[in-house]
Amino acid sequence: MISKLHNSDPKIYKFIEQEKKRQQEGLELIPSENYVSSAVLEAMGSILTNKYSEGFPNHRYYGGNPNIDLIELECINRAKKLFHVEHVNVQPYSGSPANFAVYNALLEPGDPITGMNLLDGGHLTHGWKVSATAKFFKSYPYHVKPNGRVDFDELWNIAKEYKPKLIWCGATAYARTIEFEKFSEIADSVNAYLIADISHISGLIVGGVHPSPVPFAHVITTTTHKTLRGPRGAMIMVTKKGIKKDPEIAQKIDKAIFPGLQGGPHNHTTAAIAVALGEAAKPAFKTYAKQIVLNAKTMAAEFTKLGITLVSGGTDNHLMLLDLSKEGSLGAQLEYAMDVAHMTANKNTIPGDLASPYYPSGLRLGTPALTTRGMKEPQMKQIARWIVDIINHIKPYRLPEDKTKRLEFMKTFKKKMDKDVFLKSVAREVMNLTSQYGTNT
Ligand SMILES: Cc1ncc(COP(=O)(O)O)c(C=O)c1O
Repeated sequence: MISKLHNSDPKIYKFIEQEKKRQQEGLELIPSENYVSSAVLEAMGSILTNKYSEGFPNHRYYGGNPNIDLIELECINRAKKLFHVEHVNVQPYSGSPANFAVYNALLEPGDPITGMNLLDGGHLTHGWKVSATAKFFKSYPYHVKPNGRVDFDELWNIAKEYKPKLIWCGATAYARTIEFEKFSEIADSVNAYLIADISHISGLIVGGVHPSPVPFAHVITTTTHKTLRGPRGAMIMVTKKGIKKDPEIAQKIDKAIFPGLQGGPHNHTTAAIAVALGEAAKPAFKTYAKQIVLNAKTMAAEFTKLGITLVSGGTDNHLMLLDLSKEGSLGAQLEYAMDVAHMTANKNTIPGDLASPYYPSGLRLGTPALTTRGMKEPQMKQIARWIVDIINHIKPYRLPEDKTKRLEFMKTFKKKMDKDVFLKSVAREVMNLTSQYGTNT
């Protein structure tokens, strides 16, 4: 059947089809990506996108919202039940605005905050120097220790010296369990808000394979499109502990989103989040979450067996970070070579990285998307072996020490890799594997 889009805009149709093919033929190893179900896609692509509904259920600034109210209330109720929280705002456009709304709700400009340093695995919005969050608030980042785990001694010192009003826990590239209780002890000692950003691990928490921050954090933020396997969006949740600290915290959060930061909510996204939350409440999601972690542990163990160093020596969750500093800061080269071989990953800094974020020494890999496709331990081992073969293949292409030579070096490297016979042979094997697995739609 020829689609309507094909008729009306063949160019965009073609690009989408190409991307669909890429997603089907390749191995998706970016830990923050996933494949949503066709039910989530259907809600996302629905007529709900036509409607304006500034405000909140039963309190809108536009008419015609009875159905939108039903959808948003259902979404909120599903989230409350699933995460065991008191209040949920499902309107943030994505994770970054959700986090900025939390600052907007609880702090004044110039207030001190702390979050995990970006190079150590933290997110931009947790106070990284180029982010607006560091421009409008005083950021004192904490780090990880040489063993790759959060340096709680340093965080205690930051808390005592700078008295942050807000402490972030949760990360973007951290392979270990987030120790919410330890963070809460420190936050409570200086009367700071503890905000758990569980964007990466919300699906694992719902699935029962990562502890929940609910007893410890005042506010919880999460994207909905990572391990939770929903559409691109976010939620802000308030716990009992948060309400105890500040009885008006829920209203402050809502006001900080609208009218504080955003206009009309994306109702098609709200509906798709509700569908994803419905899916996450089913027993099969627990099996899925368990398999994500089992797959990550299996892949990590295979890398270690094959001589690759992992930051923190392994993983407790859905992701791992390869430390390629001794191989010659291969992050950027490996990301490209893997692309040629139909494997998608992202270059990443490693703690204390001497290279730059654009040419980092690490590579971040995760298993949520592969697990959605039904892949299990034997496939994880095979994928690790392919990646190590590629690392060995590109080892001669060490990053030049001289920074001015890097751009030219990468240009030449890419041209060579595009024609590389070995990478093409891996790509064929990858496509043979992926042809045996669907993509959840
Ligand atoms: C921990 C964490 N918080 C927030 C975000 C921001 O989400 P978004 O990209 O949807 O703005 C991310 C995204 O990678 C993340 O990993």
